[in-house]
Order: sequence, then C-alpha cells, then structure tokens
Amino acid sequence: MGAVSFGIHPSPSAVIAHLSDTHLLAGGALLAGVVDTEAHLRATAERLRSAAADADAIVVSGDVADRGEREAYALAREILEPVAASIGAPIVWAAGNHDERPAMRTALELPGKPLDPIDSRIEVGELRIVALDSSLPGWHHGGFDEGQAAWLEAALADPPALGTVLVMHHPPLPYRSRLMRLLEFRDEQRLAEVLGAGDVRAILSGHLHINGSGTFAEIPVILAGATSYADDLGGLPPALHGIDAMHSFNLVEVYADAVSHSVVPALAHESRETLPAHVVEQVLLLEPAERMERFSRKPR
Ligand SMILES: [Fe+2]
Ligand SMILES: [Fe+2]
Repeated sequence: MGAVSFGIHPSPSAVIAHLSDTHLLAGGALLAGVVDTEAHLRATAERLRSAAADADAIVVSGDVADRGEREAYALAREILEPVAASIGAPIVWAAGNHDERPAMRTALELPGKPLDPIDSRIEVGELRIVALDSSLPGWHHGGFDEGQAAWLEAALADPPALGTVLVMHHPPLPYRSRLMRLLEFRDEQRLAEVLGAGDVRAILSGHLHINGSGTFAEIPVILAGATSYADDLGGLPPALHGIDAMHSFNLVEVYADAVSHSVVPALAHESRETLPAHVVEQVLLLEPAERMERFSRKPR
C-alpha cells in the first residue's frame, strides 16, 4: 500500500489474491471445445501483477485442473509461479472436485501420500491460512473425514493476531442453483463443531463459478468467481448455463476488526480513465482537509 492514507481506515493488515476454478486442460485443449482456460489464466496472471502487487498470498481454491491431468497442474505452476515470485507471495493450492490428488500432489510438489487429502496451513505475517480439502475422491459433492476434522482442530490452535482464513473448494452454504445442491458440502454440522472453537475470520470458496457470499456458523463465506467460465444464473432453468464471461478473482483484505473483498475482472477490458492520473496525483499531494474539499465536497 502507498504511504498516503485516506479515510478512517488504516491500510489492510493482510491481502489475499483469491482465484478459483481455473479448470486447466493438457495439450492446449479447450474446455467443452470452446473455452480457452489457459489463455484466461495467463490473462489473469498479468492482471495480478498490478492489481495484487501488495498481496501477501495467492489462494487458488480448487478445480485447478478440469480432468486432473498432471500436465494441467504443471501449466498452473508455469503461469502462476512467476507472478507469485514477482509479488513475493506464496501460492496456497486447495483441491476441488475436478482435481485428482495424486497428479495434483506430484505436479505441485505438495507433501503427503498420493491419496491423502491436500490439507495445508501457512502463516503470512500475523495471518494464518488453512486449506481444507473438501473433495471426496470419486465424487463431485464435498465433505471431509474424521482424520481431517482432527487435523483442522489442531491447525486452528494457538491463533495468531489476525486469526485464520479457511480455504475450502465447496462453500458451506445453501446454493441458489438447485442442481448444484447435489454437489454441496455435506458435512456442515461437523465443520461447524470444529470451527466453533476456532478463530476463523472468513471462509474462501469457489466451485459455483459465481461471485457470492453468505455466512456459515456466523463466519463470512466469500466465493470467488471462476477464471475459466461463469455459471449464468440468469439462464433458463433447470439447465445449467456456462458463459465464457464474467471471469474474475477476488482481493480479500483482512484488518484487525474487519474483512472485506473486492471482485476484479480477470481479463483486461477496454477502459476509460474515469478519473485521470494527473488529477489523482494532485489529490495525493493535498493535505487531508483539502483532499476532502477537493474530492468529497459537492458543488454549491
Ligand atoms: Fe469448477
Ligand atoms: Fe467444483
């Protein structure tokens, strides 16, 4: 963040670039023969360089590969690791229902036995990020087992100052799409028990290919839209409608007393400067009271 502070809030204590559902394929294949998910992720990576330059971590909340191919995970690394290195932020990989644990683990060099859940925890500054594997091998709906519940309980012990952000592919929420309810996270009660005693500030999910939010056990749940394609809830039900549009990622800001998120278009669009750079530069040079006069005062 810049040295000049605006408004009543300080700069965020931690920033997470949250992307999801990259659905990469091997061999340059197009998803469903039409969607270039590789090109979309390459474009996303370029946008991350500027939009997420202050990120403390990059979170990818699952469905990294569409068919669980090892080459697709290698591609995800090839695209995202350089931008992560330039930002100086680690990448947290979470598994989704389209992922296959052995290939994902090998290609991304993640620790553990091939078929073990891909659970992880890291700390960035004063914030802890815990990724819970909500995928169930052989199924598209989500859940977790007792071994993971015990692991999660331990992972949430000794809270750091900013608390924990939990990443899980399947959002623990009721879904608007009735069909997608078949593919929901089915162990909500057990998860609520484990999280009840913890310090989780927010849950970051994907899976639904929509931007959305809700609450689970009084914890905010934030959905990142997909970088690959979006689910069009405006389409005629009961069919599911995929659109090669609304590609996005989120910037999640964690403060001592608040968590917020912003949706960022993942692909570049033609834009106009609604406020030209030279005007912004002038505002930056003003004293706080002058800034309010110049920028907030309505003409009388
Ligand atoms: Fe997905
Ligand atoms: Fe999914």
